[in-house]
Amino acid sequence: MMQPTMKVIGLTKHFGGVKVFENLSFDLNKNEILGVVGPNGAGKTTLINVLCGAIAANSGEIWLEGKQVNGSLLHEMSKLGVLRSFQQANTFGVKTVRENLLYALTFSGQDLNPDQTAIDLLAQFDLLPRLDEQSNKLAYGLQKVLGMMMIFLARPRVLLLDEPAAGLEVSERPRIDAFIAAAQRAYSTSVLIVEHDMTLIRRLCSRMIVLDAGQLIAIGEPQDVLSRKEVLNAYIGETEDQGC
Ligand SMILES: Nc1ncnc2c1ncn2[C@@H]1O[C@H](COP(=O)(O)OP(=O)(O)OP(=O)(O)O)[C@@H](O)[C@H]1O
Ligand SMILES: [Mg+2]
Repeated sequence: MMQPTMKVIGLTKHFGGVKVFENLSFDLNKNEILGVVGPNGAGKTTLINVLCGAIAANSGEIWLEGKQVNGSLLHEMSKLGVLRSFQQANTFGVKTVRENLLYALTFSGQDLNPDQTAIDLLAQFDLLPRLDEQSNKLAYGLQKVLGMMMIFLARPRVLLLDEPAAGLEVSERPRIDAFIAAAQRAYSTSVLIVEHDMTLIRRLCSRMIVLDAGQLIAIGEPQDVLSRKEVLNAYIGETEDQGC
């Protein structure tokens, strides 16, 4: 079997006496979009923070393509190709689309000409004709696409996305998840995505995990996992299309 891109074994995180999660084990496979869901406070953002090296785990192991990397700091993980996104659009609003893209290329130490893959994606998602527009003049959904393009330009091996559709109207969401799917395929990135929007998870993810009260309570294909009783119970009080 092919080696997973990232392997998590027995990962545990406490804040003081508060257990956020305990003994989490799962694989993020090559070219996979793995969904992570769970009620508010389940530890999803904390998991992303631990995986990208922003905060240290209390115990457990993180392996990246066969190399043990737990204990690495944020900048070390980013050098190894593990990047995360934030909830905001992550662009410089007063700069043009072109300037934002050049910034992303410079930041990751690359040639200043975007590759053909990037140009194709920009064309497909309506950004190519808008290179000289100020990015905060774009519709918010398109600003999010630009922010996502900027992250993909760094060619991460592992991309950790924390609620990339947050703040978007339901009608604007398909564009960002279509972009994530297209860019993931184009760059062969392994993606872990935290989302409350189960329809988005169903559209994007081949596998998903469910966190509840610090435990991994389910792992598998969305259509199977989302019909399990223990998963439905964890979601009592939450709606399927909650976007924040
Ligand atoms: N820096 C911190 N110090 C102490 N406790 C924290 C810290 N960060 C998060 N927590 C606690 O850890 C738990 C998990 O928080 P986290 O933000 O990871 O949840 P989440 O699953 O991302 O929730 P949401 O769906 O609301 O974004 C919460 O109880 C939170 O209060
Ligand atoms: Mg969160």
